[in-house]
Amino acid sequence: MLSRRDLLKATGASAMAAGVSKVLAQQSGSSQTAPQSPTDIRQAQTRDQRMQWWHAARFGMFIHFGVYSTIGRHEWVMEEEAIPIGEYTAHATTFHPAPNCPRAWARLAKAAGMKYMVMTTKHHEGFCNFNTTQTDYCAPKQGPGRDLVHEYVEAARAEGMHVGFYYSLMDWHHPDGARCMTDEAARRRFVDYTHGLIREILTNYGKVDVLWYDVAWPLDANGWESERMNEMVFQLQPEIIVNNRNRLPGDFSTPEQHIEAAKNGRAWEACMTLNDSWGYQRADDNWKSSRTVIRNLIQCSRDGGNYLLNIGPKPDGSVPEESVRVLTEVGEWLQTNGHTIYQAELCQVRHSDYANFTRIGNTLYMHVYFWPGNYVALSGLRTKALSARLLKTGTEVKIAQDDFQTKLIGLPEKAPDWPLTTIAIECESEPIQDTLYVRENKPRAGV
Ligand code: GLC
Repeated sequence: MLSRRDLLKATGASAMAAGVSKVLAQQSGSSQTAPQSPTDIRQAQTRDQRMQWWHAARFGMFIHFGVYSTIGRHEWVMEEEAIPIGEYTAHATTFHPAPNCPRAWARLAKAAGMKYMVMTTKHHEGFCNFNTTQTDYCAPKQGPGRDLVHEYVEAARAEGMHVGFYYSLMDWHHPDGARCMTDEAARRRFVDYTHGLIREILTNYGKVDVLWYDVAWPLDANGWESERMNEMVFQLQPEIIVNNRNRLPGDFSTPEQHIEAAKNGRAWEACMTLNDSWGYQRADDNWKSSRTVIRNLIQCSRDGGNYLLNIGPKPDGSVPEESVRVLTEVGEWLQTNGHTIYQAELCQVRHSDYANFTRIGNTLYMHVYFWPGNYVALSGLRTKALSARLLKTGTEVKIAQDDFQTKLIGLPEKAPDWPLTTIAIECESEPIQDTLYVRENKPRAGV
């Protein structure tokens, strides 16, 4: 993403005429990162078409569910507490999620305004939530007694969600999971096992929309044979999209726990927890508010990215009440405000400490998260504002605009919407903000 300084530079008169989104595209290069291999080249050729639904989706649900859920001390507990293997695997036999628990996840995702889901098929612990011929350490042959991935896929499809599979390459259970680093025979076995599992999940569940690799420790792309891996993936699922965590660029970048637009116009998705844990952690009460979640979603949309927000179901598969509450509130807000997110184009306007912004065409959406009452004002909007209205009520808002300040006046004292109120501002052309212009040119004391 351009630095603030670059953006300010880009907001000169000629840039304004051209429209800043075009300037951004030119400066950052409108194409994806340079393809590196025959697989990459083929991927690049079909990328725009494969990713169309994903770009429009904007908002997805991440689900971390596995044996760690029964322990309730974070999904890294096996390694972080150095739990002996026998003690850990015993938990797999007491893992008894309620039948069809993914239905509630999918319903919640839909109610939250999410359009796709990504579930852990196998996390670092090595437990397969799906049926496999390669190991007994899988849901049908352990406590659950059935294929949890199958249930998830059915549930997601029933709610019209696109289906994503998370798959951790790192494996703390498989005997070759670490020694593959130094022992070629172990590497061969482990890579065959890994490719085999990926083949199974991409063969047995119909169309899969996203493959979300995770942690490639301890091998590099050569060690994992990642080229061959992706080759197989696209053979099995020609329309799938893959992330960048098998040490190849894939289709999109995956900033974790922070929001950062990828460079060079590359697709990106910020993934985040709702509290501080991905897997169920019964003591973690550090919940994000619906306001924080919506602000994050706005920031992703403003900068052209997606937001993948996590739930960590309890051992019985039910979703923690706080997650349900927050996601339901987000969905309610999106009912009125959703189009400002889903249809958002890159937005150059960004400077305020009580509002964030999205844009569709010449309309600027000012999403006020701390409602100051009475009026709101915006510095350095260099585009003429023609009209404004409160999105929630449709009420017209009066505008007072000069070279430096755009003021929306006569607003109600109390915010008309919650947790953010959106004001739609119709502009004469693509809205552009230049606060440096204000700093330099607004008359100072005595001038
Ligand atoms: C990290 C963590 C993992 C989590 C993932 C989600 O890689 O190791 O527990 O699944 O991030 O992005």
